[in-house]
Amino acid sequence: MTDIAIRCAAVTKHFGCIKAVDRANLALPEGRILALLGPSGCGKTTMLRLVAGFEVPDAGVVEINGRLVAGNGCFVSPEKRRVGVVFQDCALFPHLDVLDNVAYGLAKSGDQGSRVTAILNLVGLKGLESRMPHELSGGQQQRVALARALVPHPDVVLLDEPFSNLDAALRVRLRSEVRRILKAAGATAIFVTHDQEEALSLADEVALMLRGQIMQVAEPEELYHRPSSKEVAAFVGEADFLPGEVSDGQVSCELGRFQSRTAASGEVDVMFRPENTQPILHPDGPCEVVLREFFGHDQLVTVRLPSGDRIRARVGPEADFAPGDRVRVRVRGDVTVFPAPSRASSSGLDSELAVLAEETFGAADACSSRTAAAGANTANVACVSSGRRETC
Ligand SMILES: Nc1ncnc2c1ncn2[C@@H]1O[C@H](COP(=O)(O)OP(=O)(O)OP(=O)(O)O)[C@@H](O)[C@H]1O
Ligand SMILES: [Mg+2]
Repeated sequence: MTDIAIRCAAVTKHFGCIKAVDRANLALPEGRILALLGPSGCGKTTMLRLVAGFEVPDAGVVEINGRLVAGNGCFVSPEKRRVGVVFQDCALFPHLDVLDNVAYGLAKSGDQGSRVTAILNLVGLKGLESRMPHELSGGQQQRVALARALVPHPDVVLLDEPFSNLDAALRVRLRSEVRRILKAAGATAIFVTHDQEEALSLADEVALMLRGQIMQVAEPEELYHRPSSKEVAAFVGEADFLPGEVSDGQVSCELGRFQSRTAASGEVDVMFRPENTQPILHPDGPCEVVLREFFGHDQLVTVRLPSGDRIRARVGPEADFAPGDRVRVRVRGDVTVFPAPSRASSSGLDSELAVLAEETFGAADACSSRTAAAGANTANVACVSSGRRETC
C-alpha cells in the first residue's frame, strides 16, 4: 500500500470571525502532485501555511509522512517539518547569486556542491550559477526558487501560485517543466492555483476548495466528468444545466435523450460542457445563435433553445456562426446529471451559483448566470460561466 505523505484531518483555522479553513480533509500519497484549486479568498494559502507550519490550526491534525506535526497538543515548527516552500513572489535573496540562493539553508557538507549542481541541472539553470536575481527572467527566478526548495531533499514541496506573475506562454511552459522536475525529484507536492486548466493539466489529483471547505478530491478526469455537485461543476470548467428526467436508465431533456455517467432517478439537472455540444446550421433549426466569442484557437457560441434556456458550444476557429443563425444542437457522448429534488427550491442554489460566479469573475461575467438564475422559475436553468481565462 502507498504511504500517505500528507494527511490533514478536520483542520480548521479562524482569523477572528473569518473561518479561513473549515474542517478540511486531505490524504496525499507519497510522490503525488495535488493541485489545491479554488477562487480567491477560499483558504488555499492558509491551508498550505497550516501544512508548512506557518499557522497553527484551531482544530484538527496535520501529519507529514506519518508523523504528527500539528494538533492534539503537538506543534512541530516549520524548519523541523522537512517541507520545501515556493511562494508566488519567489522571495530570492537579492544580494546572493543563483548558486548561493540555492545553497542557502543546506548544511555545509562535503557533498553540498554536488547536490546544488545536480538540482541546478534538474531545473535547467546550469551555467547561470553566478547570475544575481535581477539578472534573471521571471521564469528563471521561479526555477531558482524551486531549486532552493528541492535541494535539502524535503519530504514535501508546497507551491503557492508560483506562476501567477508570469505571462501566459511562459506559465504554460514552466508548469509542465515543474511537473517534470517534481516527478524527477520524486517529490510529493501541493500546488496552489486558482487556474482550473493549470490544476487539471499539472496535477495527479485536484482538491477543489470553496469557502474554506474541501468539496472534492479526485483525479483531474474524474473531477471534470463527475463533479460531486453543480457548484463544483461550475468551478471546474464551463457548465450549463438543463432540467431533465431520468427513466429506464436514460435521461431526457430539451436536447434529447442521453446515457448518464452518474446514477440518479427522477428529476435531475443535466450538465452540458461546451465541448460536447455542437450547433449545426439549419434554416429551420429550432434554436438561435445569440452570441459568438472568438478566442483564436476556438470559439464559444451561445445558443438559445426553444424554451428560452441557453447552452454554450465550443467550436473550431473556422466555424462560421453569427447571432441570428438558426441551428440544431447535437450532443456528443454521455452526460452528467445532478439530483434536483425540488425544482421550486433549486432557484436558491442557482442564485448561490450566480453569486459564486460573480465573486469569481466579477459582476459583468456573472450577468449571464444571474439572468439564467432569475429565469429559473420558468426556464429552470442555471447557466454558469466558469471561464477558460484565469479565474481570479
Ligand atoms: N493573517 C490573516 N489575518 C486575517 N485574515 C486572514 C489572514 N490570512 C488570510 N485571511 C483571510 O482568510 C481567508 C482565506 O485567505 P487565503 O489567503 O487563505 O485565501 P486564498 O484562497 O489563498 O486566496 P487568493 O487566491 O486570493 O490568494 C480570506 O478571507 C482572507 O482575508
Ligand atoms: Mg493565496
